[in-house]
Amino acid sequence: MTNLTLKPYISEEKIQLKVKELGETLTKQFKNEKVIAICVLKGSFMFYSDLIRSINADITCEFFGVASYHGGTSSSGEVKVTLDLASPVENQHVILVEDIVDTGLTMNYLKNSIMSRKPKSLTTIALLEKPDALKVKCDVDHVGFKIPNDFVVGYGLDYQGYYRNLPYIAQVQNFQ
Ligand code: IMP
Repeated sequence: MTNLTLKPYISEEKIQLKVKELGETLTKQFKNEKVIAICVLKGSFMFYSDLIRSINADITCEFFGVASYHGGTSSSGEVKVTLDLASPVENQHVILVEDIVDTGLTMNYLKNSIMSRKPKSLTTIALLEKPDALKVKCDVDHVGFKIPNDFVVGYGLDYQGYYRNLPYIAQVQNFQ
């Protein structure tokens, strides 16, 4: 296990309140509709599982695995698909659930990939966004928290595979 110094940044309570708020917004948008919610693995699994429980709509679950960090702290700029969607999304409403938008490259890659499969609609959501880190224009429909350009872990987000299980989000103080 790594022994980084972590500074609590967004508490579990604050995250849960925000997730509820986002869930209510999406409930208004999709009430009485069928919608496919896509979890972007691995980072968004915790946000995703809380979020879909707070959306009142007819949801089916899909998983899309991508990797761009390769365990470090800066984006490689190259998106690798580790698990493709198991079902078509053509002519269906889709919610794409990401953990964090950093450079924007992954979100844009995912949006292009899903749009090429011709969904009825695509709604994008990210728990976190680092506006100062964006390298490309990247529009996200719903963002939980805008944060500074610091590396964060917890609530699904990792450093070298660790810290995903923290129930809150922390800033990393010292890298080895
Ligand atoms: P992007 O393509 O640069 O926007 O990076 C998106 C992906 O990088 C996210 O889905 C995360 O998996 C990872 N990432 C970006 N910033 C952080 C961070 O601060 N902590 C942990 N992972 C991050």
